[in-house]
Amino acid sequence: MATNLLLLPGDGIGPEVMAQVERIIDWFNQNGADFVTETDLVGGCAYDAHGQAVSDATIDKALAADAVLLGAVGGEKWANVAYDVRPEAGLLRLRKDLQLFANLRPAVCFDQLADASSLKRELVEGLDILIVRELTGGVYFGEPRGITDLGNGQQRGVNTQVYETYEIERVSRVAFELAKLRDGRLMSVEKHNVMESGVLWKQVVTKVHAEEYPDVKLEHMLADNCAMQLVRTPKQFDVMVTDNLFGDILSDIAAMLTGSLGMLPSASLGAEVDGKIPAMYEPVHGSAPDIAGKGLANPIATILSFGMALKYSFKMQDEAKLLEDAIQNVLASGIRTGDIARGDEAICSTSDMGDAILAEMNKLK
Ligand code: IPM
Ligand code: MG
Repeated sequence: MATNLLLLPGDGIGPEVMAQVERIIDWFNQNGADFVTETDLVGGCAYDAHGQAVSDATIDKALAADAVLLGAVGGEKWANVAYDVRPEAGLLRLRKDLQLFANLRPAVCFDQLADASSLKRELVEGLDILIVRELTGGVYFGEPRGITDLGNGQQRGVNTQVYETYEIERVSRVAFELAKLRDGRLMSVEKHNVMESGVLWKQVVTKVHAEEYPDVKLEHMLADNCAMQLVRTPKQFDVMVTDNLFGDILSDIAAMLTGSLGMLPSASLGAEVDGKIPAMYEPVHGSAPDIAGKGLANPIATILSFGMALKYSFKMQDEAKLLEDAIQNVLASGIRTGDIARGDEAICSTSDMGDAILAEMNKLK
């Protein structure tokens, strides 16, 4: 049975990196898979086409697809468009409408790139963290929100951090399940010392742990301390679960530890309904307008995001492994895009990187 993938390349370097993923998808189709792809607009390019960062028709296609693969959204060009139609709004609507409440952000340090980290090699060598970020709640979506005029020359900007029990339960279950598959321990991160939503977060995670996952080792950490610990001794962490805003910030820190943002994939998953898990896969990096259109971008994060789709949406573990091995081999052979090259290492183009990965896949198949 054919598998339907909706590709949303987006803005900036999105289309360039997605073009390489399409070559990888073609390769799998030539080797027995049956992926059918459709491409559509999201972000600034969607705004340019129809005045919205994502159209209702695109949302419908995303809901119908077996998985969505997204490139990146945003750029200077849209700096002054209305707030509710800015490129990022398209991404947020996709997350909300598809109910993708669990965002998996692995931060893995590839040995070959350990020297590109801003931390010392010994601190990051072998690093393998998985951040599970709550993605459809918290301050990103809480009401009330907005800017109001106070009538005395002053304005008030409001956002609301809000979590209900079921939201914390479902994302912590995803994290506990992943912890079971890995090192059997989970770090829950909040700020219960200043936020009631953090008090509830900690209580609910503790209850889910006691009732459903007593065999996993659960620990708690305040978010500010966690940020500090991440740059002090990052290897103390394995799986982490946290809210939407802390997850946004901590995952950027974790990403930087690995030496290249251009290498990190992510998966956003919802709850299984009739055997199907709503899912969207995207690189952690942004649209990088400064290098867009120049063939300089590293396509690996987006290719690895497709690799996560193979694993989590399509249960194609062997294929995912082949893709990851091919990328490891390419890195081991010294092939580098600009973001991961050091000193006077030669730099390859986006499509050269695609060529190299495909050549390795042919060797490994
Ligand atoms: C991310 C990004 C987004 C977020 C932006 C682009 C809205 O930073 O996916 O981490 O804040 O969630
Ligand atoms: Mg972010």
